[in-house]
Amino acid sequence: MRILVINGPNLNVLGRREAEHYGVDTLETIERTLIEKGEELGCELIFFQSNHEGGIIDFIQEEAGRADGILINPGALTHYSYSLHDALVDSGLPTVEVHLSNIHARENWRQTSVIAGVTIGQITGFKAQSYSLGLEALVNHIRSQKEK
Ligand code: DQA
Repeated sequence: MRILVINGPNLNVLGRREAEHYGVDTLETIERTLIEKGEELGCELIFFQSNHEGGIIDFIQEEAGRADGILINPGALTHYSYSLHDALVDSGLPTVEVHLSNIHARENWRQTSVIAGVTIGQITGFKAQSYSLGLEALVNHIRSQKEK
């Protein structure tokens, strides 16, 4: 099973960015922990981070055909990117949205996700752990769909 793990704008500077919201883990540490989790779950992970909306959409278009699911933290794109929404729909892949901070407990504009409606679900507020919880939920979902 191949899972695309996508991180949006500003997530490359985790570790030094607003630790009270995002924790102290760097993206590299998060990805290393996810690789271990992926091995446990028996899946291969393909990582991508970009500060550019179009770069993320290009990546989804290029890789979707070779993947089984998407784990994504879109960063601020969560709140306004209709083109990311459309790219996720076009991918046809089951998607789980994750956030380090609890977006529903923050500013009003962060409480809306324009992609939530095209995901299986959202995991928000568990800092780095959101990613492992999200990966497990995604893999379980894909396996249960295959058994049908
Ligand atoms: C975030 C929440 C977003 O509102 C913010 O713009 C981010 C990170 C999170 O993981 O909590 O960049 O997606």
